Amino acid sequence: MLSSLALSAVPLLLAGLQAATVGAIPTISAVGSKFFYENGTQYYLKGVAYQLTPDDPLVDTAQCKRDIVRMSELGTNAIRVYHVDPHADHKGCMAALADAGIYLFVDLDTFTTQIEQTAPQWNQTQFDRFQEVLDEFQNYDNTAGVFVGNEVLTTTEGSIAAPYVLAAARDMKAYRDQKGYRKIPVGYSAADIADLRPMLQNYLACSSNSSERLDFYSLNAYEWCGESSYTQSGYDMLEKNATGYPIPIFFSETGCNTPPPRTFDDQSAIFGSEMSDTWSGAIIYEWIEETNNYGLISYGPSVKSAAATNTLVVGGYTRQGTPTPVLPDFDNLKSQWATLHPTGVALSDYSKAASSISGIACPASTSGGWAVDPSSPLPTLGQTYKKNASSATGTAGSDSSTGTGSASATTTGKHNAGNAVMVAGSATERLLTGSILFSTFLGAVAFWL
Ligand SMILES: *[C@@H]1O[C@H](CO)[C@@H](O)[C@H](O)[C@H]1NC(C)=O
Ligand SMILES: *[C@@H]1O[C@H](CO)[C@@H](O)[C@H](O)[C@H]1NC(C)=O
Ligand SMILES: *[C@@H]1O[C@H](CO)[C@@H](O)[C@H](O)[C@H]1NC(C)=O
Ligand SMILES: *[C@@H]1O[C@H](CO)[C@@H](O)[C@H](O)[C@H]1NC(C)=O
Ligand SMILES: *[C@@H]1O[C@H](CO)[C@@H](O)[C@H](O)[C@H]1NC(C)=O
Repeated sequence: MLSSLALSAVPLLLAGLQAATVGAIPTISAVGSKFFYENGTQYYLKGVAYQLTPDDPLVDTAQCKRDIVRMSELGTNAIRVYHVDPHADHKGCMAALADAGIYLFVDLDTFTTQIEQTAPQWNQTQFDRFQEVLDEFQNYDNTAGVFVGNEVLTTTEGSIAAPYVLAAARDMKAYRDQKGYRKIPVGYSAADIADLRPMLQNYLACSSNSSERLDFYSLNAYEWCGESSYTQSGYDMLEKNATGYPIPIFFSETGCNTPPPRTFDDQSAIFGSEMSDTWSGAIIYEWIEETNNYGLISYGPSVKSAAATNTLVVGGYTRQGTPTPVLPDFDNLKSQWATLHPTGVALSDYSKAASSISGIACPASTSGGWAVDPSSPLPTLGQTYKKNASSATGTAGSDSSTGTGSASATTTGKHNAGNAVMVAGSATERLLTGSILFSTFLGAVAFWL
């Protein structure tokens, strides 16, 4: 597997690239624990989460082009899109992104097909919808990765859903290969939940059978808030637990916004000597300013309900038009990224090491904790989790994550609810990690006041 991209293949890939037509963008491959361009240079994501409304943003070419100008100014080379319509025409946006050297990481699930933490299942309907998204986006060389889920697991009891996430990855990888598609990396985007660490991360990458592990793992982490540091934020522990990880790992959402303004100081750790040997970059949450105050750009001031008849306005925010940077956050991120250019390792130097990466141990199940027996086979397509009444573990009874999500959801739509769950997840996390992070948080607030 790995040897197919070994040393000898590199000059061929190079020659192929030089002969390619103007406008072509090199594809991204996962090799060992890193991403590479076709020419063998390591690829690090400098990404932003791009979802203007709950609907597909990659269908409005004019809007994409307006946004891409600002993305390029920022130094962006990746976007993440949570929801797309596989039947829509994406040619205009995908070509404009490719022209700007911007890659897409796209979630395969739609509103009704995401794998649920409570009573999880992986069924034919889900498979068919995931497959449609892959069928569409494999057409584009700048599709760099797909997610089989976003924050499916948010509680300790949710660990029973992990095999369903992995079963989805197994089946999408097999489908990709059976169709003869490019080996577009298939991954998962995890909520940062202390109770699940590091078990979930390791479980999804521990199989000795590469067909039954992810191609990459990514984490939505909001641990570095305000004036913090590598050690104070807990990033040192993220680094420690990712060292020796056999597949690429990156931040699929980051950018704590409390207290404002956002300085994005964590980027210098991620792209610097502390973490760039292990982590493959970060996606900043998020492009558009909305009630949750995570936006890097705005399309106009928030508008009151009087303007609600305006179709460009959803949830009190204009969702289309000329992107205007939210300051100083936009400039702060731009300045950070402008100074951060890790060179990483050349594929020609790395491929030998990659082929001898040793696996990691699968986490053992523990009473009241991680509830997955590492030796049990993955669910088959069509399988639904059945709670074993006499067993200590079962499905999460309460629906607390959804409850919190709706309470803080900013606008209508599952997308926003999903994001709110993410924020709730990181809030829970702050409580769970206890005094260190919590006092950091209070300290930061006090400093700001
Ligand atoms: C490889 O390709 C990338 C993307 O086009 C480019 O940024 C990089 O400079 C190239 N590396 C070399 C060594 O030419
Ligand atoms: C498949 O799973 C999804 C998500 O859990 C669920 O909404 C849907 O009803 C299931 N479909 C079938 C046919 O069981
Ligand atoms: C690896 O996993 C795939 C997918 O589950 C399976 O078809 C294959 O038989 C497995 N290979 C080995 C050697 O176990
Ligand atoms: C790292 O792993 C240890 C167990 O090995 C765990 O206790 C800890 O919570 C993990 N921390 C992070 C930040 O993943
Ligand atoms: C249910 O759990 C009990 C106790 O852990 C175990 O003995 C039994 O085999 C389980 N039943 C099923 C159907 O998994």
